[in-house]
Amino acid sequence: MDTNANKKFRPFNAFMNLQTERSDVFEIAVKPVSSPNRIKTFLIAATVITGIGLVVAISVAIALKIKSSDAVHKYNQPLGKIGKTTTSTTRSTTTGPQLSSSTAGLTTTTPAPSANGTWNNWGSWTSCGATCGTGYHTRYRTCLRTSANDPICQGEYVETTTCSLATCPVYGVWTTWSGWAVCDVTCGGGTHLRTRVCQKSSSSDLDCVGSWSQSQACNRWSCPDCSQTCTTGVLNADCTACECASNTVQGIVRNHVNVPLNEASIAHASVPYKTLATTNETGGFVLDTTCEAVEVVITRAGYADVTVVVTSTTVTVQMSLTEYPAISMNPKSRVRVQGENVTFCCEAYGNPAITSYEWMKGGVLIDDTKYPDGYNLTLNDVTISDSGEYKCRANSPVGAVYSASALLTVKCNSTLKNKN
Ligand SMILES: *[C@@H]1O[C@H](CO)[C@@H](O)[C@H](O)[C@H]1NC(C)=O
Ligand SMILES: *[C@@H]1O[C@H](CO)[C@@H](O)[C@H](O)[C@H]1NC(C)=O
Ligand SMILES: *[C@@H]1O[C@H](CO)[C@@H](O)[C@H](O)[C@H]1NC(C)=O
Ligand SMILES: *[C@@H]1O[C@H](CO)[C@@H](O)[C@H](O)[C@H]1NC(C)=O
Ligand SMILES: *[C@@H]1O[C@H](CO)[C@@H](O)[C@H](O)[C@H]1NC(C)=O
Repeated sequence: MDTNANKKFRPFNAFMNLQTERSDVFEIAVKPVSSPNRIKTFLIAATVITGIGLVVAISVAIALKIKSSDAVHKYNQPLGKIGKTTTSTTRSTTTGPQLSSSTAGLTTTTPAPSANGTWNNWGSWTSCGATCGTGYHTRYRTCLRTSANDPICQGEYVETTTCSLATCPVYGVWTTWSGWAVCDVTCGGGTHLRTRVCQKSSSSDLDCVGSWSQSQACNRWSCPDCSQTCTTGVLNADCTACECASNTVQGIVRNHVNVPLNEASIAHASVPYKTLATTNETGGFVLDTTCEAVEVVITRAGYADVTVVVTSTTVTVQMSLTEYPAISMNPKSRVRVQGENVTFCCEAYGNPAITSYEWMKGGVLIDDTKYPDGYNLTLNDVTISDSGEYKCRANSPVGAVYSASALLTVKCNSTLKNKN
């Protein structure tokens, strides 16, 4: 009986030890039962089971407690910028010690979490958000967490710094266009050129973007053809036009507010260089020997050219003032995220009408494939290096005008979203 009591007591001692010295408990639990004493074995087993039950109960209680804290809630969220320090402090001071004192023996496979979570290694840097000069790049890391019980990592999960690339190339700057050169033919249609010069501030500057010359058709009228036959009238001496000797056309030229215009030149449209008449003080002119249905062109300094078909013996022509090009719609500043598209609009008017638009970034002409329509500049899939100052230039036969500048600001794609 003594031995039995003694045997009875030993497991109890072991159970008491369980509360403080886990190594003993563990030893008893795993020690092979060498004695055939079934009671001893039973008692040991019963004690261990009781211990396990206690441990499980405590674990459940702890688990419930953890669940009620915001730690689990945090786990389900995308990783915040900074984990809340209060969360980890609460866990380490309240649940931590309880775990280690009472249940450590059975938590060998789930060690008590450390106060702060562990970060995975930083990922590699994203490419520099610029092609030259200074840009930004970013790298990310994730928190090593396998369950809701794992602690939140402290600190930033994203890091952004500047990155420097080769210095940005400097482009030359075009001078303004020269005037149109003399036409290469006097009749029959030819071309003439205007040119501009690329000015570089240093020999290392890159060539200007765009062409150094533009060509335009000129002297499109027919060359004198002495073999041509006239449907009405007879061919004149220099073989440039048919003349109807008995015809006289009287005309008057006025401006946009009906004031007669003197010194306007009248010529056949087919021979515009040969002035046939000039208006007098009251705007009148007389064209002798002009056949009907002939096209005449009226030109005068300060007014846009007018072409009319003479269908009767009297003709009234109204001329409108030449208007230097003027901007009617300036491009507006825009902010875009990388990868988005942007369109800048520019509109101008003039008399004669605007013939072409050009776009410049930072004063440098942009390749005109970017604005096939002329007045709208569209940039697709913008990058940080597209940021800058944009403006347009509207050109007409009598001049050119620049729009106001618009700023394009391209921002990095938001790095604070969806990064876990
Ligand atoms: C946890 O991280 C915070 C912030 O880095 C630090 O102040 C604290 O000392 C850390 N706690 C432990 C137990 O490492
Ligand atoms: C101007 O020319 C018209 C047409 O030839 C003529 O009738 C008119 O008298 C002229 N006026 C003057 C002031 O010469
Ligand atoms: C911005 O980043 C998010 C997430 O990485 C991505 O889904 C989205 O397509 C990106 N947007 C642009 C405009 O690149
Ligand atoms: C940008 O424009 C291109 C071509 O028009 C189009 O395919 C693309 O969807 C546009 N992108 C955005 C972000 O609107
Ligand atoms: C150019 O911009 C104007 C003004 O926003 C717009 O009305 C027009 O539709 C655009 N044209 C094209 C071809 O996108």
